[in-house]
Amino acid sequence: MRYNEMTTVQLKSLLSEELAKYEGYKSMNLALDMARGKPNASQIDMAMSLLDSTRDFGKGAGDLRNYGMLDGVDGMRKLFADLLGVDKEEVIAMGNSSLNIMYDMIQRAMQFGVYGGDGAWNGKKVKFLCPVPGYDRHFAITELFGIEMINIPMLPTGPDMDMVEQLVSSDESVKGMWCVPKYSNPDGITYSDDTVRRLANLKPKSKDFRIFYDNAYIVHDVFDTKDELLNIFDECKKVGSEDMIYEFVSTSKMTFPGSGVAAVAMSRANVEYTNKLLGIQTIGPDKINQVLHLAFFKDVDNLRAHMSKHASLLRPKFEIVLEALAQFEGSGMLEYVKPNGGYFISINTIDGCAKEVVRLCQEAGVKLTPAGSSFPYRLDPRDRNIRLAPSYPTENDLRMASAVLVNCIKIASYRSELAKR
Ligand SMILES: Cc1ncc(COP(=O)(O)O)c(C=O)c1O
Repeated sequence: MRYNEMTTVQLKSLLSEELAKYEGYKSMNLALDMARGKPNASQIDMAMSLLDSTRDFGKGAGDLRNYGMLDGVDGMRKLFADLLGVDKEEVIAMGNSSLNIMYDMIQRAMQFGVYGGDGAWNGKKVKFLCPVPGYDRHFAITELFGIEMINIPMLPTGPDMDMVEQLVSSDESVKGMWCVPKYSNPDGITYSDDTVRRLANLKPKSKDFRIFYDNAYIVHDVFDTKDELLNIFDECKKVGSEDMIYEFVSTSKMTFPGSGVAAVAMSRANVEYTNKLLGIQTIGPDKINQVLHLAFFKDVDNLRAHMSKHASLLRPKFEIVLEALAQFEGSGMLEYVKPNGGYFISINTIDGCAKEVVRLCQEAGVKLTPAGSSFPYRLDPRDRNIRLAPSYPTENDLRMASAVLVNCIKIASYRSELAKR
């Protein structure tokens, strides 16, 4: 039965049942954490042989242990290029973090401008389109640089493209857009073919406009049904818009988070422009780590095989949370999309209840990502979205954390409805 069709007597009786359960959970002194989108140690262990893989660093002028190779190790660029469906010349393989590359790309745009653009963004009004809910660290970067963020609702097909097209084509201060096109953080949505085509065909008013296309979950399937993402560069090349895209990727959630290899793919013109500035910033990336990664993965087929081992560890964890949430079906208390991959399950409570659910969980010893985190300025206008991260806890901990979460959602929903009557 839907919660808002229950009588007040029914609601009060259900609330007191749930409150009794809640007291029980509190007395257990739990210390559980569903806040961190981190791989579990068992996933990381599967990459340990990377450290003693057979490797060839080359000799003489090609000695990869020495300075140089600003673009990264050739083989590693090729591996990323194969993964992204672009040419090796369109890839720069860099250091340990794609987020770091994104930050640097914005920093450079602020200080020096972008290729073919109107000069430094500093001192100008700059706006970024931010599909919501989205990745908090993206929003933190744009907030830090004083860039105004505009919420774009996420639809089952990706960002609301009617709104994107309207803003990008009419407002010169719109100079960027954040995108997580595959298994988006946190919704787990993959952009439809139509969305990718519409992105590639945008007609920006500003010459500076860039799409920050963060393909962090490109090979991070969890279930047997896998989402397919159209290659945006193929679409851009058909209409000559490839300078508009910066695509990011990393092995953080394939091998070692924080010690993987990250890369950016972009047009040759963008690569050339970036390299001029990058060459002042550094003599070259950590090629030793790139060689180790290359020796470990060898090629994209092997990389995919490695990621299917990750999926087999993650699948039961996602199932535990999804099974717990399934009891809300038809209740009107919760909305969510079952993702086919990525690292998160994103839930929407009744409007105005997300903060309260997170607070109740916290008090019962279950840590969740703070409500509002997935929105620019941490402001969820409807206070309803919560990001759940099932990867890190053990299956037993997840079972308990999910039970507490369900209990807290019920308490907050019943209370909210009673308060309205
Ligand atoms: C969408 C997204 N992009 C980037 C990152 C971080 O990537 P990296 O470790 O390569 O900096 C994360 C980590 O959770 C993420 O969710």
